[in-house]
Amino acid sequence: MTDNDSVTSEPENLKHRRIRSFVLRMGRMTAGQQRALDALWPRFGIEYTTDSLNLDEVFGRHAPRMIEIGFGTGEALCAYAQAHPEVDCLGIEVHRPGAGHLLLQVEQYGISNVRASCHDAVEVLTHQLVPASIDAVHIFFPDPWHKARHHKRRLIQPVFADLLARVLKPGGILRLATDWQHYAEHMRAVLDVHPSFTNVADDTGYMPRPDDRPLTRFERRGHRLGHGVWDMAYQRR
Ligand SMILES: C[S@@+](CC[C@H](N)C(=O)[O-])C[C@H]1O[C@@H](n2cnc3c(N)ncnc32)[C@H](O)[C@@H]1O
Repeated sequence: MTDNDSVTSEPENLKHRRIRSFVLRMGRMTAGQQRALDALWPRFGIEYTTDSLNLDEVFGRHAPRMIEIGFGTGEALCAYAQAHPEVDCLGIEVHRPGAGHLLLQVEQYGISNVRASCHDAVEVLTHQLVPASIDAVHIFFPDPWHKARHHKRRLIQPVFADLLARVLKPGGILRLATDWQHYAEHMRAVLDVHPSFTNVADDTGYMPRPDDRPLTRFERRGHRLGHGVWDMAYQRR
């Protein structure tokens, strides 16, 4: 993430349509990531369209479904998919080298229950995912957008919570983690009062770190910087 707000390839008339939660970096794609994308995207990749996605067709079965938004390099997504072969796991990440890295792990570990979308999650949730179709949403270490003038770019906002509520099944679970206390408090401020969510943590409002959440690249970075970590969980009413 950089502070450069200007990177967008949208047509002029759409530029001011919406504040994005990401800046597309031209990060280096390794040869391995490119090879994995070339070889595996046709099988594991999902192209963005404005049509509804038939997840039964995409995964070739009817199963419980989780999505991870902003999976980065995909460690948490792959670990979850391996630990839960009965669950179909869709990762959404705008950063293409991250998708390549995910597919390298899919190949290395022979994972079959993962699919990837390389597109803005706001649009995927708005157009491609059908209402009440998802059992769990994971959002781990979303970009914190530290500066006050950038807080509007944070992914977790009331309108995004509406989108999450729309795709989650009643009883479905939203899991979040951040290493930035101010963002944790912001998430609580948005979600604790949202009519479709119930905070399922203890009296503190936060969860103990779940054993099944592997250390991600950003969490390791947070540890190096001496940050704390705040885990949260909400149930869709
Ligand atoms: C700080 S990184 C964390 C990555 C990973 N979850 C981890 O813990 O290492 C946040 C990621 O979210 C992605 N992202 C931000 N906004 C997004 C959006 N609207 N749709 C999809 N991905 C997004 C960014 O590209 C970035 O890779």
